[in-house]
Amino acid sequence: MCGIVGYIGNKPVKQILIDGLRELEYRGYDSAGIAVLQNHQFSLFKAVGKLVNLEEKAKNFETTGFSVGIGHTRWATHGKPTELNAHPHLGSNSYVVHNGIIENYQELKNMLVLEGVKFLSQTDTEVIVHLFEYQLKSASTPFEAFRQTLEKLEGAYAILLVNAAANDTIFFAKHGSPMILGRNHEGETLFGSSDAALIGKCHEVIYLEDGHYGYATAQTVAMYDEKNRLVDLHFVPLSENKLSAQKEGYRFFMEKEIYEQSRVLADTLMGRLRDESIYFEELDSALFVGINEIKLCACGTSYHAAMVASYLLERHSKIRVSLEIASEFRYREPFLTQDTLFVVISQSGETADTLESLKMAKKAGLKTLVICNVDNSSMVRLSDASILTRAGIEKGVASTKAFATQVCVLWMLTLYLAGERKTLETTEIKRQIQLLRTLPAMVTVDEALHEQLRRLSKRYLHGHGFFFIGRDVFFPLALEGALKLKEISYLHAEGYPSGEMKHGPIALADPGLYTIALLPQHKLYDKTKSNVEELSARDSTICSISPLDFDKSDDHIRTQKSEDYMLEFFEMMVVLQLFSMEIAVRLGNDVDMPRNLAKSVTVE
Ligand code: F6R
Repeated sequence: MCGIVGYIGNKPVKQILIDGLRELEYRGYDSAGIAVLQNHQFSLFKAVGKLVNLEEKAKNFETTGFSVGIGHTRWATHGKPTELNAHPHLGSNSYVVHNGIIENYQELKNMLVLEGVKFLSQTDTEVIVHLFEYQLKSASTPFEAFRQTLEKLEGAYAILLVNAAANDTIFFAKHGSPMILGRNHEGETLFGSSDAALIGKCHEVIYLEDGHYGYATAQTVAMYDEKNRLVDLHFVPLSENKLSAQKEGYRFFMEKEIYEQSRVLADTLMGRLRDESIYFEELDSALFVGINEIKLCACGTSYHAAMVASYLLERHSKIRVSLEIASEFRYREPFLTQDTLFVVISQSGETADTLESLKMAKKAGLKTLVICNVDNSSMVRLSDASILTRAGIEKGVASTKAFATQVCVLWMLTLYLAGERKTLETTEIKRQIQLLRTLPAMVTVDEALHEQLRRLSKRYLHGHGFFFIGRDVFFPLALEGALKLKEISYLHAEGYPSGEMKHGPIALADPGLYTIALLPQHKLYDKTKSNVEELSARDSTICSISPLDFDKSDDHIRTQKSEDYMLEFFEMMVVLQLFSMEIAVRLGNDVDMPRNLAKSVTVE
């Protein structure tokens, strides 16, 4: 979602803020801004669009000596992406940056307007700074005013606030959105909404807990919990290794991340495959004692990975599985029993709906497990157990390698459970472990295939819609293929179970309807083939993806012959990712930062 950085120290502050924001830009990029406080004077720069626009605006601004600064990249929730709505938001003498949503902002705004406060933006965030200044009129100190402000806010937030009277101070708070405080050997203090902004700049950090708030100056940090008790500062080391992803010669991060799936899957598998069993260092088998059901909960692409797992777990581990879209789960008053293991799947570990669902499950006394890509993320810290997917930083907004590693972990989890529950013969577990070993080779991009997709993409730009269809695990893969295409091409696409087309959607079939048909050799080939033939007979334009010849299609993408449908799954996944990307490239879209989207969705 939005990104936040903060800095207190003696170095040129603008560059530090902008470098930090650059690490976070992929999370939200409709506007950006920085505010710098030096000698009780503020300098403010804001720009609509990408960070380069802000850099251009602030190009002549330099500081020497001590200063305090805050910065923000925005993903609009309230109000359009304009300069006025960009953060930092200002009062008379204070600036604020905020991630999250202030749910009672309208009520607070009405109250402040009655007090004569003038609002410049349409954002919820602006109430924070005005409320702070309102409290400041009667509070004994700026920090006391900040505390009183927090007491009145409802919703989710990570906040940094600076005030001209407190010239060397940043006030901070976290409630539902991530915030990290870091320091280094040079006596500088930094803030970031993700540690990506702090790597290389801080040697140790504190991941704030919900309810934590406080202030930092050049000399000190004071932090309190929600009961206003002083909190001991437990810094943990932060890797100094700059992991930040670079494009390494690829045109886009998305392309690089598709190509590196082979390497990251090798990491995902590392140390986890034994001859006849799966070993997760992080898992204690006690987690599964007394469990009769697994509930999988996630959003977006991670939900599609969960859906793949729902097939695998029931088939091989013989355990009841239910699937939950996190934003639905939260408000449907679910019936939860303690013999259910609640599993959340998330690349970022910060997605608001998934995180809140996890909290609900914990509150109901369920055991919890998170499958996540980001160590130390909120979900990893909250759940009873976690398995890391080890995909490395994913910068492309359209998720690729995170999905691949999620499915890989969930497949391994299936075999782990099948072993524990003795629901598969050892020979079968052994066979599937052998398949897992071949995954890195399976997803290695074949340049000739990529070239074919590049050429083919020009024929799929102007239809009235796409249907991606498949059966079994190829149905969630179809959903994922359609989501990828929608996100970066802005073309309408749906994923559908192929057997369901005749129950309505087939009415749309004509040459302008593109059917992308997943026809694996080893899973329900004949059944799916009949469904595709039904569409072909109604003149839909068919692009089939299969290792077998198929004479009823307009275009055919031939995949390798492999021995199992899960290997076909991973190969087709790569085909769909590249195909979407090439269509988006031809349409001239920004592949890595598609319109209206953000990488980590920390608002509900
Ligand atoms: C799609 C995509 C999103 C995310 C979703 C959940 O390419 O990236 O659909 O999968 O926002 O995010 P995480 O996995 O971080 O919880």
